[in-house]
Amino acid sequence: MTTDTSSKVLMELTEAHMETGLRGVPVGYCTTSYVDPQTGLHYVGRPVSEIAHEDPEAVIYLLLNKRFPDAAELEAFRAELKRRRHIDPQVFFALKTLPRKGHPMKWFLHAINTLGVTDATGDFREDCLNLIAKIPAATAAIFRLREGWGDPILPSEDLNYMEDFVRMLGVPGLDADGQARLTELMRVFDVVHLDHGGGNLSTFTGKAVASGLADMYESILAAMCGLAGPRHGKANQECLNFVEECVRAVGGTPSEGLTRELIQNRLANKLLIYGFGHAVLKVEDPRATVLIELGERLCPNDVNFRMVKMLRQVVPPILSQNPRIADPYPNVDLASGSLLHACGLENSDYYTVLFGMSRVVGIAIQVVYERCEARMGRGTPIVRPKYLYSPKGTSEGAAVDAMIAG
Ligand code: MLT
Repeated sequence: MTTDTSSKVLMELTEAHMETGLRGVPVGYCTTSYVDPQTGLHYVGRPVSEIAHEDPEAVIYLLLNKRFPDAAELEAFRAELKRRRHIDPQVFFALKTLPRKGHPMKWFLHAINTLGVTDATGDFREDCLNLIAKIPAATAAIFRLREGWGDPILPSEDLNYMEDFVRMLGVPGLDADGQARLTELMRVFDVVHLDHGGGNLSTFTGKAVASGLADMYESILAAMCGLAGPRHGKANQECLNFVEECVRAVGGTPSEGLTRELIQNRLANKLLIYGFGHAVLKVEDPRATVLIELGERLCPNDVNFRMVKMLRQVVPPILSQNPRIADPYPNVDLASGSLLHACGLENSDYYTVLFGMSRVVGIAIQVVYERCEARMGRGTPIVRPKYLYSPKGTSEGAAVDAMIAG
């Protein structure tokens, strides 16, 4: 007897699912990662906490090949990325023509679009590997040109992925120790941000655009537009600003009583609390746990980091009192900004670009799956959901909004 899996009922759709951002509605398969509400992010079945300190190239290989490389395979993969690292000087030239203002994410979008002009082959697999290889140099160039640190530093054949990224940043005034700390942070930051299941906004957007057979660069460009919003990738920037505001409000010393009072006042004044809650998770985001543990080693006395730890202790019990808040726990953004700041990247405007540099990897790999492997290699059809016609929208709209916010 055979089982017809195509008819398996995955969930029943009701009106309550309308206008909820497809929350929880299954729409496809993701072969790279999944996010479990209780245990968080897994890459190819492995909890992110277990692999956060692996070499970034090994984790990228895992996402691509669904297994970790042995030593020889890792070396070969590193060599392959190094071979593909070269950036057409026209990309740097295009960045140089931008006015030195505007959010760095706009520069990032410009860089990806220009890479598409100079490099697109139309082959999703080729473009995926090229983008993964080139994105650190393009990202570093954005920092250098927009901040006036100097000309872009070209990729080297000698260094590994994140080591070379930190070298190409060439952060002014960072000594060898500072460089080593930033490298240690960026290796972990990169790994924990590479992928987050199939349904986060940027990934879903990238795959949706690719479903119309836009090429890899166009699809990633669209994905990164999705990441640019403060409800998604830009939340890491907003969160550091919030943490700094809290530090100022308590007079520089994160005491428990003052912090609790501050949070209660913010809630009473309907001000947002950044760095807590997630659309899927119902526990502390393991990516936040990993970063806080790393912060204990890299910047234990940093005042922002101490505030992050105080918020981690104080906020969840307060938010839990609101029955509409399903996840009162820290998310990945709570700690990432304070660590970047303490390790030499002080301008929070760039944090979403760093998130994007990592996330391009997971999205590109998922695009390859949907275009080249899904449905026995035929690929998924063009995304085309149905909207119910209703000239006035639904009267339940407000109630549903409240449910989502909760
Ligand atoms: C992410 O890493 O993409 C965010 O946590 C958002 C999400 O998963 O929806």
